Amino acid sequence: LVIVLDFGGQYNQLIARRVREASVYCEVLPYDTPLEEIKAKNPKGIIFTGGPSVVYEEDAPVVGREVFEMGVPILGICYGSQLMGHVLGGEITKAPHREYGKTDMVVDIDDVLFEGVYKDTVCWMSHTYYISKPPAGFKVTATTETCPVAAMANTEKKLYGVQFHPEVMHTPQGKDMLHNFLYRVCGCQGDWIMSDFAQEQIQLLKEKIGDKKVLVGLSGGVDSSVAAVLIHKAVGKQLTCIFVDHGLLRKNEGDEVEKTFGEEFDMNIIRVNCKDRFLEKLAGVSDPETKRKIIGEEFIRVFEAEAKKLGTVDYLAQGTIYPDVIESGTKNAAVIKSHHNVGGLPEHVDFKEIVEPLRDLFKDEVREVGRAIGIPEFLVSRQPFPGPGLAIRIIGDITEEKLEILRDADYIFREEVAKAGLQDEIWQYFAVLTNLRSVGVMGDERTYSYTIALRGVTSVDGMTADWARIPYDVMERMSNRIVNEVHNVNRIVYDITSKPPATIEWE
Ligand code: XMP
Repeated sequence: LVIVLDFGGQYNQLIARRVREASVYCEVLPYDTPLEEIKAKNPKGIIFTGGPSVVYEEDAPVVGREVFEMGVPILGICYGSQLMGHVLGGEITKAPHREYGKTDMVVDIDDVLFEGVYKDTVCWMSHTYYISKPPAGFKVTATTETCPVAAMANTEKKLYGVQFHPEVMHTPQGKDMLHNFLYRVCGCQGDWIMSDFAQEQIQLLKEKIGDKKVLVGLSGGVDSSVAAVLIHKAVGKQLTCIFVDHGLLRKNEGDEVEKTFGEEFDMNIIRVNCKDRFLEKLAGVSDPETKRKIIGEEFIRVFEAEAKKLGTVDYLAQGTIYPDVIESGTKNAAVIKSHHNVGGLPEHVDFKEIVEPLRDLFKDEVREVGRAIGIPEFLVSRQPFPGPGLAIRIIGDITEEKLEILRDADYIFREEVAKAGLQDEIWQYFAVLTNLRSVGVMGDERTYSYTIALRGVTSVDGMTADWARIPYDVMERMSNRIVNEVHNVNRIVYDITSKPPATIEWE
């Protein structure tokens, strides 16, 4: 076990993720966790995260000297290293120039932290204060042009501090440095795997939930599926899943969800078919934000009504993952689209507490957990699908006929992507029904039918994206098949804009 001690930095979970990636088990604990508690966990090492504070400030998060005297290796990152410097008697001062971004750095390759790292390397800096003089017993092991102590080490006591951020990708050899700390300094074995996480979570959920009742909103998406199956493995039928089928899902999707979870996993699942209710509310509405709001609102109302029938539940489970936690935490970001996540918090459901077993994980880690607990691959590797579903892929108002057209076109698109073996290369791909109709000719007859737009993007996290270069022959097949097989479509276009300036979805 390695403990990541949280001082409020923005990359804390990323540090934890890097540790897990190195196959080492870790836990993120608040900085003021009592020393006894830390000792009791018998960690092989501790990492102090960065944070926005200045060590001198009155309410700065600090730790006592004792933590450095436990004999446990410690790596301080950014604020964490300044804290180490400060507590142990070094000097921290305001840097003459704030250092931010990619910075050239010279490291001491004889230091164990930098084994295998190039002498001239690059790091990611983001700080206003720095260590101007390391504490007694420490040597400087890296410098940049403006930072005199980019890294310091007390090899004997196994204490290390780095001013830069080894956990971000912009420090290209940061992974090596963290590996060195974990394996060479702490002596970790690297034998922890994601299925251990799953087992631990199941055990924790068992203890927490006991014989109480849990409710979860299941959408068939990766996050809620993995959360639901984890909880099911812990408490079985004490878990009830409510699956609100708003009729805006892709072809066969509703049945697949019901079959997989209800039959194969034998979970308690209530499918609420309420297509008509949603279509009624959406009739004649073409403004994208209004559509989103209607669906989000209606979704919660249906969920609440179903939950009410069950009476009081003790826990409401959610498939919240770490990026959701960050997103909802940014107060200043402009609203581009009001995202609706199936399972958003209902106000009138009677529950005592929320459980979010995936709260600390990133998407790909959630997928790994899913695989480890036997969720079928087609669900685990499912591409992202927006909560408002096909409603935001039909430009203009929504009708049953349009939904039908879109479902069929989208199905063919997905089928052809799979046939061409491109499903892992393209991050997300789907069809959009535009509200544009144009003239065509089919079998000597004039047609006046819809234009379908196909969208395929590559991306890492959906925040930025590029359009996917689908081979022309694959495009040709898609186009032919859609026009021939889907009623009322006579033209296919492919979207070649990146995000930004466009977004991935059209609405
Ligand atoms: P945009 O269109 O904003 O989409 O570039 C970025 C990613 O988010 C998905 N998306 C949603 N996901 N609820 C969700 O859970 C939503 O309301 C929603 N809207 C968009 C979109 O599919 C893409 O992957």
